[in-house]
Amino acid sequence: MSENLKYGSISSAEAMELENKYGAHNYHPLPIVIAKGEGAKVWDPEGNEYFDFLSAYSAVNQGHCHPKIINALIEQAKTLTLTSRAFYSNNLGEYEKFITEFFGFDMVLPMNSGAEAVETAIKLSRKWGYEKKGIENGKAVIVFAEGNFHGRTITIISASGDPDCREGFGPFTPGIHKIPYNNAQALEEYLSAEGKHVAAFIVEPIQGEAGVFVPDDGYLKSCYDICKKHNVLFVADEVQTGVARTGRLLACDYENVRPDILILGKAISGGVYPVSAVLADKEIMLVIKPGQHGSTYGGNPLACAVAKAALEIVKDENLIEKAFDLGKIFREELEQFNHPMIKLVRGRGLLNAIVVEPKDGKEAWDVCVLLKEAGLLCKPTHRHIIRFAPPLVISEEELRQALEIIKGVFNAL
Ligand SMILES: Cc1ncc(COP(=O)(O)O)c(C=O)c1O
Repeated sequence: MSENLKYGSISSAEAMELENKYGAHNYHPLPIVIAKGEGAKVWDPEGNEYFDFLSAYSAVNQGHCHPKIINALIEQAKTLTLTSRAFYSNNLGEYEKFITEFFGFDMVLPMNSGAEAVETAIKLSRKWGYEKKGIENGKAVIVFAEGNFHGRTITIISASGDPDCREGFGPFTPGIHKIPYNNAQALEEYLSAEGKHVAAFIVEPIQGEAGVFVPDDGYLKSCYDICKKHNVLFVADEVQTGVARTGRLLACDYENVRPDILILGKAISGGVYPVSAVLADKEIMLVIKPGQHGSTYGGNPLACAVAKAALEIVKDENLIEKAFDLGKIFREELEQFNHPMIKLVRGRGLLNAIVVEPKDGKEAWDVCVLLKEAGLLCKPTHRHIIRFAPPLVISEEELRQALEIIKGVFNAL
């Protein structure tokens, strides 16, 4: 047992060594080990404190270990954890009523991970395309935007343009077409030519992994209108942008767009449990019949209890308004800071990014390492972009402290 430990029984060095030795090398983590989390902060085993400005890629919107969610988890865990969908459970229907009313749809299909929810939306769209739109069997096309990130299953990476995601994993799923992001004209042109085969357009309202790429105002609404014109489903992947992150309940709300299919994940459980959901109205959802889709854990009693508590917090603690107001402060402060290595600050609510101008060979990764040493955790996305997405429960005072850390690191570079 190591000395000088505050949390757990192994040191940071030992934890990293174990992961490297026994875990698949499918991630390249920053050299920091987290042993405890509370609100907007986390601690390493040695007791060093950090602001968490990643929030597990926007899953921990409600803050680490929110007591209301943890209590819901514990209470439910003492009673019933899993039934499978072979039987009814006494809290699934209640949760389904709650989440559909919360987001304003007729029905929900519960799954676990974001990627599973995206896969679900693809299947739902194809089935709708054949049964309702009358697309010739086996010919359905789903349109995606270039630069997308929807997860890492084979079908999803078939829609990706990122070589890291794709190389060595072919052959890919057919029936996918990509158009440039933030270009409604490209969608119109493709649907004018090929629309009769197209079941859905799946899009992130803000491309998170691409580097918090915010499209022009009006893009989502134009795409929605174009989809309606060609009888194509408009599907919003709000796995990262949803649940108050961008200063609205959904990022689509900025343009008053109500997607035909809404994909949610991450923060609907506040980072406590893997919960994802696909929401749609009956005409779409009911094309899927018993046995055609599902998951043993999807909609399990623990997931339902946790997600309900996590969504209640969004309203109880005014997280939408908080994300909006604090996001404004964050961007304004960094814009006024006017540092030569900060080329651009962009984002909405508390989903923001800095585009870094490299200096003396120092890139986004190096800045993140220095930020970590100064007490703030975040992660680069691509070589020159750093995403900043703290838990939405962060206070203004904490946000201002974090801004001082960020400015201090840039000044020292
Ligand atoms: C927009 C979007 N969709 C889907 C996913 C995949 O979610 P998961 O990692 O839970 O499979 C992500 C993950 O970052 C995402 O950002």
